[in-house]
Amino acid sequence: MIDWHSHVLPALDDGSRSVDESLALLKMLSEQGVDTVIATPHFYADRESLSSFLERREGSYKILRDALAEGMPRILLGAEVSYYSGISRLEGLSRLCIEGIDILLLEMPFLKWTESIVREVELMLASTSYTVVLAHIERYFDMRNREAIERLLSRGALAQSNAGFFCRKGTRRLALKLLRSGTVSLIGSDTHSVEQRPPRIDEACEIIEKKLGNEYIEKINRLGYSLLE
Ligand SMILES: [Fe+2]
Repeated sequence: MIDWHSHVLPALDDGSRSVDESLALLKMLSEQGVDTVIATPHFYADRESLSSFLERREGSYKILRDALAEGMPRILLGAEVSYYSGISRLEGLSRLCIEGIDILLLEMPFLKWTESIVREVELMLASTSYTVVLAHIERYFDMRNREAIERLLSRGALAQSNAGFFCRKGTRRLALKLLRSGTVSLIGSDTHSVEQRPPRIDEACEIIEKKLGNEYIEKINRLGYSLLE
């Protein structure tokens, strides 16, 4: 299983606060059957330059790498890139793609997406050679973005949802519906900390397996590993 969205790099954003916490999160993920963790620290272009962010990310990763025990999941570096008007013109944006693959995890604004927001993401999808994955898609359904989401998916975007979406009783039905319809195709823990937002990938998989059958887990894995190739 691949965790497509996580804040496991130490002391980099609002996620893991230390190497020890990162190791604890990775151990939990490993025990949940995750063999590949995409590390996606927040990137906000209005707060930091791209080069500074990449430098900090590299530094944090190096410290963690040196402390990694055998049998831990492999870590691929990425970012959770916060949308802003003009993002499609950011020089070097592709450097925020997940290492080795052409996928950018995009965090959309928490409001109703205007036509110009949707158009800009469409522009990214049309003019770049990478795929855009919309992060934690479940957060946008209440904001009357359903149509816009469908529009972006039809243009080649993919949607990731958090494991918690499947675990919470109040949202489980919608989560399973969106997985079944193909709206959601990738899952992430979006884990931030051991106490406050621990990874719940195993719980989510259990629910998916019980309610929809193992073929949906296989489908998630098939797509996920094919994207990593
Ligand atoms: Fe996140």
